[in-house]
Amino acid sequence: MGLVIEIPDPCLVVLVGAAGAGKSTLAGRHFGPEEILSSDAYRGILTGDEADQRLNRVAFSILHRELERRLAAGRMTVVDATSVTSGARRQFLRRASRHRVPAVAIVLDLDPAIVLARNASRADRVVPTFAVRRQLGDVARSLGRGELDAEGFSAIHHVRTPEDLDRLEIRRVRA
Ligand code: CTP
Ligand code: MG
Repeated sequence: MGLVIEIPDPCLVVLVGAAGAGKSTLAGRHFGPEEILSSDAYRGILTGDEADQRLNRVAFSILHRELERRLAAGRMTVVDATSVTSGARRQFLRRASRHRVPAVAIVLDLDPAIVLARNASRADRVVPTFAVRRQLGDVARSLGRGELDAEGFSAIHHVRTPEDLDRLEIRRVRA
């Protein structure tokens, strides 16, 4: 049996991981398309190019507006963005807490070499290596000093190997 993660239903799932770690793959396998709020998808809609960072702020403001709507309606929601810094995660945590919806983090904490290789070999969009390295550093920092533990997530789950990622099972437990 592979890794089993139990999450309350509804909850807010915040994926945490560098570009290439497998966030969108995980979200697509375990959640319905309407449950996933993806910063890249909003960037793509705005600019025609998911890699275009110029309208990042607008993309995130749309993501937050949709998140607000879903949390208010008590709907299960996954945020598919890197969320590698405390500051980025705080915005999502605050919003969930205002609606009394538990927030769960799933950290894609894979070997940096694997993440860099996956990013480099992507067909769709390759993120510059320096940016991925910075994100990997942010993830390590978030985990290193117990920063993530202190942020207010009701649970933090770790996916550490490609096997965990591929054999992952997510069980929803009715709150
Ligand atoms: N991949 C894989 N096996 C997995 C997960 C991902 O081979 N179990 C590959 C995907 O096919 C993709 C690459 O790794 O080519 C990156 O995965 P993706 O889910 O797109 O990563 P994200 O974390 O979503 O990256 P980004 O932040 O850039 O969107
Ligand atoms: Mg993605």
